[in-house]
Amino acid sequence: MAGAGISTDAGIPDFRSPETGLYDNLQSYKLPYPEAIFSIDYFRRQPKPFYVLAKELYPGQFVPTKSHFFVKLLEKKGLLRRHYTQNIDCLERVAGIDPELIVEAHGSFHTAHCIGRKCLKEYSQAWVKEKIFQDEIPRCNVCKSLVKPDITFFGEGLPPRFFELLENDFGSCDLLVVMGTSLLVQPFASLINDVANSVPRLLINRVRVGEASAPGTGFDFDGKHVGRTHRDALVLGDCDAACVLLAERLGWTDELAELRSAFLEETNSLGQDQ
Ligand code: OAD
Ligand code: ZN
Repeated sequence: MAGAGISTDAGIPDFRSPETGLYDNLQSYKLPYPEAIFSIDYFRRQPKPFYVLAKELYPGQFVPTKSHFFVKLLEKKGLLRRHYTQNIDCLERVAGIDPELIVEAHGSFHTAHCIGRKCLKEYSQAWVKEKIFQDEIPRCNVCKSLVKPDITFFGEGLPPRFFELLENDFGSCDLLVVMGTSLLVQPFASLINDVANSVPRLLINRVRVGEASAPGTGFDFDGKHVGRTHRDALVLGDCDAACVLLAERLGWTDELAELRSAFLEETNSLGQDQ
């Protein structure tokens, strides 16, 4: 399970870190409250701030981090059951992880739809991108409603794929790794409680998050609720540094470095800078 913290080393701000997080840096958008930029009700009335931000954060301008390549390496080793991400930056796709193994729990820029309730016409990413980069507000050519990338806003349901896969995935996984998320947004955050009681859980994050207030409600690193079980482990620090360390302990250092350098070589040979 991952959140914005796996992408900060690519230069994309997270949401809630004090000072550097997006929600502390939206003053120029004059929002009633920071999360309004991703609120469907606000968007229907004031779509401009979202599109301005979307242009700034648009996928295609960033290189995946070592954390993304670590997940790719898990896939290569046949160890990745699924990668559940809250991120909309598409960096797991860019890193080459098989889309079948990714669940974009908060959607992505990959597809877009008209939000007119009776229309819902689908639009391509390319069509929306062109409008966004021309500083135009994308509007449906059938009903004139707004066309919005299929990112899950506050007030919207998560993609069906999330609900279709989670029971089986979390019921059958034998190690849960959680990286770079405040675990403050539901229903994603509660997934950490969906693995069996015997399944070890590893949190890699700059700050402690997701801790249980009662048995079975979250991480229990210190054995406060169920005694010392050693089921929950914590690495307090940067995701990339922790992934590098994990790779080292697993004897995968060279393979992790190779994945990243092969990617950089390929993008360079395509004439893109990174
Ligand atoms: P947050 O910004 O809420 O949390 C990011 C967490 O990652 C924080 O606890 C940071 O301390 C930590 N962090 C940041 N950089 C890190 C790094 N390099 N290494 C380790 N930890 C790091 O982001 P999310 O939990 O992803 O919704 O936010 C969840 C959802 O809230 C997002 O998907 C977004 C937002 O509103 C939508 O876009 C719809
Ligand atoms: Zn329409």
